This record gives sequence, C-alpha cells and structure tokens, in this order.
Amino acid sequence: MAKIAVITGASQGIGRSLAHQIAKTGYKVVAGARSMDKLESLAGEINNAGGTAFALSLDVSDSSSIDNFKKEVEKLGIPSMVINNAGIGRFGPTDEVSREDWDIQLNTNLRGAFLVTKAFLPKMKRDQEGTIVFINSVAGIQPFSHSAAYVASKFGLRGFAAALREELREYNIKVISVHPGAVNTPFWESIPGEFPTEDMLDMDVLAENIVHNIQSPGNLTVEEMIIRRVGGDF
Ligand SMILES: NC(=O)c1ccc[n+]([C@@H]2O[C@H](COP(=O)([O-])OP(=O)(O)OC[C@H]3O[C@@H](n4cnc5c(N)ncnc54)[C@H](OP(=O)(O)O)[C@@H]3O)[C@@H](O)[C@H]2O)c1
Repeated sequence: MAKIAVITGASQGIGRSLAHQIAKTGYKVVAGARSMDKLESLAGEINNAGGTAFALSLDVSDSSSIDNFKKEVEKLGIPSMVINNAGIGRFGPTDEVSREDWDIQLNTNLRGAFLVTKAFLPKMKRDQEGTIVFINSVAGIQPFSHSAAYVASKFGLRGFAAALREELREYNIKVISVHPGAVNTPFWESIPGEFPTEDMLDMDVLAENIVHNIQSPGNLTVEEMIIRRVGGDF
C-alpha cells in the first residue's frame, strides 16, 4: 500500500513543487492549505499524471482547523511523512512591526508546525517509523535585518526540530530541517520592494533535491540541509 505524505502550505510555491515531487516517488499526497481552489488544481495535476493526491483545507494558525484536518487525513490513512512547509514573512524595522504581524508569523511558522507535528506524532511513535520535515530557511541559522519576527520564528523552528529529533531517535522517526536560501516563489510578490527573483533558487530543482534527501533509506538520515545559490545570499 502506498505510504501517505502530508504537506502543509501546498497550494503554491515550494509546497506545491514538493507535492509534485513526492507524488512521483509513489507516496499518496495529502495537500493542505487555505486556498482550496489552488489545492484542487494541484491534486488534479497529480492525479492526471498517474499519482494520487487529496486536497484538504488547513489553516495552521488555527488549532481547530488542524484538529479537523487531522480527522480528515486519518480517514485516508496514517501518514508516515509530514512536511511542515506553510510559512509567511512580513519584513520591516522592528519598531514598525505590528503585534498582529509578529503573532501571525510566530503562529504560522512556529506554533503551526508544532501543532501539525503533534497531531500526527502519536501514531508515528506507535508505528516506530516516520519522517517529519521542517521547511525552515537560511534565516533559521543566520540573522537578517528588518526580519526580526521571521528570523525569530525560524530560529525557534530549528530549535524545536532539534529537540524533537533527540526525543524521537528511539522511535526510529527521522526529523529533518531544510534551510534554503532565497527561492523564486510567489512569497516575494507580497513583500514591498524589488527582488532579483530570476537569480533565486528554482523551486522545482530545490524540491527534487529535498525529496531525494528526505527519502534516504534505512538508518541514514540527513538531519539538516543548508541549500544555497553557489553565489551565496542576496
Ligand atoms: N521563497 C523563499 O525565498 C523561501 C526561502 C527559504 C524558506 N522559505 C520557506 O518555505 C516555505 C514556503 O515558502 P514559499 O516561498 O513557497 O511561500 P509562498 O509561495 O508564499 O507559499 C506559502 C504557502 O504557505 C501556505 N500558508 C500560509 N499561511 C498558511 C496557513 N495559515 N495555513 C496553511 N497554509 C498556509 C500558503 O497557502 P494558503 O495561502 O493557500 O493557505 C502557501 O501554499 C515557508 O515556510 C517559507 O518560510 C521560503
């Protein structure tokens, strides 16, 4: 029976590319996000290409939405892979960051990843098998100015993943943090300013690389991946 992979924030960008790449390796993909129209078109593309995908509504900043998502996923089966990818960035000088913008970044990027992981963890522990992936950022290992909330959320996410990894070694569960540099996705469209998107990492090439590494067989795991342009950060 095909294994199930859950991917959050799969409606566009890196999550969407990951969904396509994971489906190609034979996983049934459960794609979650708020934009159901985009998710349904993604699931249609995967199913037409011979894969299997399901679109489910998910707001990772809302714990009742996560509870409902979990119930719907478990009607399809028990996931052996969870990819926490949903994330947002709001940038600016710290004295101009609103409490709402702080909260939404921490609630989406950090608390959301905790709650989604927690939802699927008991059955992975019971099965003594699983892979939990966190799509972090280079902002989770080095600071950038005008990015305090985003950097805080991603440093926090790296810490959460690292602690979880230690806790889950005895359960044979792989915990993987992925730290990409800037990637050409719609993420940059909502951020004021001009960005050299054409020179950023390609999301499909990135996703293919991530999917290869997170599926390392047996007792081997790539615990942290730092993936940059050869030319470095912008
Ligand atoms: N682009 C980059 O340069 C870059 C670099 C390093 C790391 N990353 C990280 O990679 C991840 C994906 O980024 P991206 O570039 O692909 O961004 P994107 O194009 O803006 O896509 C973000 C995805 O997250 C989903 N999302 C946002 N808030 C959500 C919520 N509350 N609940 C569920 N889904 C939510 C969005 O779906 P809906 O709006 O439909 O909910 C969308 O599918 C993020 O964690 C980001 O921090 C990005």
